[in-house]
Amino acid sequence: MFKPFKTNADINKVESAFSAPSNIALVKYWGKYPVQIPANSSISFTLDKCKTETSVEVNKISNNREDFKIEVFVDDKLNADFKPKIIKFFERVEPYFSFLKEYEFKISTHNTFPHSSGIASSASGFAALSACLVDIEQKLSDKNNFDKSKASFIARLGSGSAARSISGPMMIWGDHSKIKESSNESAIIFRDIHETFKDYQDSILLVDKGQKQVSSTVGHDLMKNHPFSKNRFNQAQNHLSDLLQVLKGGDLDQFIKITESEALSLHAMMMTSKPYFILMKPQTLEIINHVWAFRADTDIPLSFTLDAGANVHLLYPKGHITKVLEFINTKLVQYCQNEQYICDNVGEGVKPLA
Ligand code: PMV
Repeated sequence: MFKPFKTNADINKVESAFSAPSNIALVKYWGKYPVQIPANSSISFTLDKCKTETSVEVNKISNNREDFKIEVFVDDKLNADFKPKIIKFFERVEPYFSFLKEYEFKISTHNTFPHSSGIASSASGFAALSACLVDIEQKLSDKNNFDKSKASFIARLGSGSAARSISGPMMIWGDHSKIKESSNESAIIFRDIHETFKDYQDSILLVDKGQKQVSSTVGHDLMKNHPFSKNRFNQAQNHLSDLLQVLKGGDLDQFIKITESEALSLHAMMMTSKPYFILMKPQTLEIINHVWAFRADTDIPLSFTLDAGANVHLLYPKGHITKVLEFINTKLVQYCQNEQYICDNVGEGVKPLA
């Protein structure tokens, strides 16, 4: 689909730097086929503040090599732990770039959100690196036409959900019969949203900041022989068609019903797989119950969603920020590790760094 460009052999050195945000899925991707093809389509809010900032410098190598020459720096320190993941990623994306073995790579990366916050950095990390690679390809081939669709395609090969971090405010990834141009290979922008969603807030309550109990690779695999997988994939496709109408029209009651059901369905899949897992913590349930009570008491359309972990994302329209923050600070921080939470909002995707 995305052929490699012919590069100019006379260019010895190129630099590129991009930031890319994390994203939060409303209809969840859980289950995949090789290579990184989702079992159902998904949609997410692109975030704004939880970002990875990555710079890549490439220098020409005199002789073509058999392997990749990569150095990875995290927070300015040489880091060996990420290298195997990045080598595997380079192997996957090699058919789509012609220069990966002709240059040596110095990759420097930094997350704007706290370390070990339990927020997956793979989506923002692979989106930022993919944007740099697509930009470098442009520079090496004397072109100036950054292709976000290729960046999403490449990011998908690093981490599926990374495909949705390239643009914003909302991204759809995965074939859907009712969504023209939807694709399993790269995410597309969904712009046709009601005013209320354009500055939607996501306050992330950090319930468990440790390593994920189940990696997403293992989680996706558990859907292979799952007794409910077929129904789950159908449910997600139906939720997505329904949610698109809601996002256009601004019906917050329906928005809450669909997105909370998605979050709980994702966790239900993990509770009913073999082996089974409970990824929520008691604090997660406390928060959910408080959110339901707060909604009933105040009529403020505050809702929650969950990733494959115990942290809780609180979603709400910007107009309610004061009341919601007061609620978080008085009732919910007690359930967060070190009383920590992160306030984010809907954003626009990758940006070049000066
Ligand atoms: O991109 P992965 O392989 O880390 O999978 C992400 C899965 C969820 O975050 C649980 C859901 C989603 O759609 O983002």
